[in-house]
Amino acid sequence: MNLQLPYCFCIFLLLQLPFSTNGQAYKNVSLGSSLTAASGDLPWTSPSGEFAFGFQQVGDAGYLLAIWFNKIPERTIVWSANRNNLAQSGSTVQLTADGQLVLNDQSGTQIRNTAYLGGSGAAYGAMLDTGNFVLAGQAGDTLWQSFDQPTDTLLPTQNLKLGAQLIAPYLEKNYSDGRFKLILEDDGNLVMHTTAYPLTTSNFAYWSAGSSLGSGNQLVGSGNQLIFNQSGYMYVVASNDTILNRVFSNSVPLQDLYLRATIDYDGVFRQYVYPKTASGSKRWAMKWTTLPNSIPSNICLAIRYSAGSGACGFNSYCTLGDDQRPSCRCPHGYTFSDRDDERKGCKKTFISQDCDHPSQEIDSFEIRDLLNTNFPFADYEFFGSVGEDWCRQSCLSDCYCDVATFKDGQCWKKRGPLLNGATDPSIGDKALMKVGKGNRTEELAQKKSAKKSDGSALIISGSVFLGSSIFLIVLYVFFTNRKKQKMIPQHHVMRDMNLQNFTYNELETATGRFDEELGRGAFGPVYKGVLGGEDKQMIAVKRLEKMAGEGETEFKTEVTVIGRTNHKNLVQLVGFCNEGQHRLLVYEYMSSGSLSNYIFGDSRPNWHRRMQIALDWACDCFKEGKLNLLVEEDEEAMEDMKRVERFVMVAIWCIQEDPSLRPAMKKVVQILEEGVQLSVPPDPSSFFSSI
Ligand SMILES: *[C@@H]1O[C@H](CO)[C@@H](O)[C@H](O)[C@H]1NC(C)=O
Ligand SMILES: *[C@@H]1O[C@H](CO)[C@@H](O)[C@H](O)[C@H]1NC(C)=O
Ligand SMILES: *[C@@H]1O[C@H](CO)[C@@H](O)[C@H](O)[C@H]1NC(C)=O
Ligand SMILES: *[C@@H]1O[C@H](CO)[C@@H](O)[C@H](O)[C@H]1NC(C)=O
Ligand SMILES: *[C@@H]1O[C@H](CO)[C@@H](O)[C@H](O)[C@H]1NC(C)=O
Repeated sequence: MNLQLPYCFCIFLLLQLPFSTNGQAYKNVSLGSSLTAASGDLPWTSPSGEFAFGFQQVGDAGYLLAIWFNKIPERTIVWSANRNNLAQSGSTVQLTADGQLVLNDQSGTQIRNTAYLGGSGAAYGAMLDTGNFVLAGQAGDTLWQSFDQPTDTLLPTQNLKLGAQLIAPYLEKNYSDGRFKLILEDDGNLVMHTTAYPLTTSNFAYWSAGSSLGSGNQLVGSGNQLIFNQSGYMYVVASNDTILNRVFSNSVPLQDLYLRATIDYDGVFRQYVYPKTASGSKRWAMKWTTLPNSIPSNICLAIRYSAGSGACGFNSYCTLGDDQRPSCRCPHGYTFSDRDDERKGCKKTFISQDCDHPSQEIDSFEIRDLLNTNFPFADYEFFGSVGEDWCRQSCLSDCYCDVATFKDGQCWKKRGPLLNGATDPSIGDKALMKVGKGNRTEELAQKKSAKKSDGSALIISGSVFLGSSIFLIVLYVFFTNRKKQKMIPQHHVMRDMNLQNFTYNELETATGRFDEELGRGAFGPVYKGVLGGEDKQMIAVKRLEKMAGEGETEFKTEVTVIGRTNHKNLVQLVGFCNEGQHRLLVYEYMSSGSLSNYIFGDSRPNWHRRMQIALDWACDCFKEGKLNLLVEEDEEAMEDMKRVERFVMVAIWCIQEDPSLRPAMKKVVQILEEGVQLSVPPDPSSFFSSI
């Protein structure tokens, strides 16, 4: 068995390669075939190549055994087998000789845990163009299909049977079971529930087909199947095929568009389309676009229950944005418990009122108003026929009171943790939040940044990440040269380079509101961040403060130049943001390590990267006279100061403003690798002062 596996695997690869590369020669998945969780392993694709079955890596956490849209860059996952238990590298999925689909988890100690996924006595497997992976018997009969075990998504022709459910992912790119689900209950009712997270049991029903849609209430409970038909319509049918409730009535031309219906991590069930080709469907952007009538229409108002936090976490409140998506916010005086997971709710940034001396403490608290906001089910006391000011004072002097809501002479006092928070024009209440005076938030933030700007270790890692600043230098030189030439339109170039144009909001989110500063370069600070995309790419975001005054064309030219200057061994420019006064550059993030590791470490033998660090070093540290700081902790480096010096000298030669003074790459290699002698470079300070 152990010998057989690699053999089959090779055969499989041979079979797989031709059609995967040119889209021809589709083959069924034969018995004995297997796939391995490893980057570069080819999945089993459908005849059209539009869907694939295989392993997808989820950050560093492991691999999902999944089905995804294979022809779009996002590789959007529509089904997965192990969302709560990611497979580690080296795991395999196999269609065994006796026709079972099994997932073998290869743990570090060679123990294989085998999980049975489906089939028994299957003759072959096939990834179909509908997105359904099937195991079929000798006669072509379906023994098992992924369509019967949906995850969070339905595809056209995929129907939901009685008792079947979709469970939302935990977060957009965290595929674990989340906090919401859609279920066709055994009594035939289609319902959306919050789950009693971390369990997946139902908690509160916030939507049901019968009560929210049309006039068919009397038919609730007689549903037999949820149909998602080939025109994109979705409806509940009775066992006699009568349509009982319509869920989605968007007619979608499936020849031009990919379509899916997904319960998202925010608890909303949405239909999405994506154009199959750029030319085929001009009306749609080349990305997933939401179709009208998401369910429920306003989730912020839909979840109101005495147990559980509501659509957002405890102490937070939910608002529907212009994009019709809910967002979770913290009231004044509160902050997210976990910036990476806003649905975990908010915590106080002030110390709660002391119940032993509430009246003495009144001066330390104040009331902040939130209009059109309520926290249903958090009440403990009610007063009618009172004034707003009375309501304020009552909460202020009551140590139990976290917020009071006031409307039409009625005052409700509420205690934490606050539930079901929502802001919406339809809510007439005014929330009077009691918060500590003074600015502990600010103090905390100041303390944090003071800690950060202190200590050489941070300067080191900072300069590592500032590797990109050399590009700014290079760019500056290009740019000053360019200024002497005629302006040329740059926009098409930028499009060709595949750089992402980020919004400021996106980068603010990616960096957790610019929370973690990696360092500071000549042009401004650099922050660590993570993109929301499928692979959770780590990024370094450089804020160009010194360039804020530059014009539009100038900035674009600069981005273009940096984009072009990319080399595979250098930090890659991923994209940029150019929004009003905000000018930012987004780079791939290099994993941490001390500078001397980069220069001397054997694990990174390529001199390009070392060069880059050395250059950066020159730019950011040389002028501050902090060179020795960078290698202080590293004995090897201290001993080899000569080499360090050589790196720096090359670096300074490379950033000479006069291009004719800059050495050719060939010369640089000779200097660095063959020890060719080098003269002392001119002082670069005039250059720095000109920036
Ligand atoms: C897949 O297997 C079935 C049953 O053996 C066969 O009818 C079908 O033609 C096969 N398809 C391909 C593309 O080999
Ligand atoms: C997803 O979120 C859950 C809950 O916070 C966490 O336990 C799990 O590790 C996360 N998974 C990944 C891949 O980050
Ligand atoms: C899908 O359902 C809609 C609404 O019932 C119907 O008009 C349409 O013809 C159906 N499409 C197909 C392909 O069955
Ligand atoms: C189909 O079933 C539904 C619900 O059970 C019932 O109301 C309706 O009368 C039936 N229609 C037909 C044509 O039998
Ligand atoms: C606290 O400090 C922040 C940041 O400076 C400021 O935006 C906020 O208004 C301050 N809050 C109070 C209560 O003074």
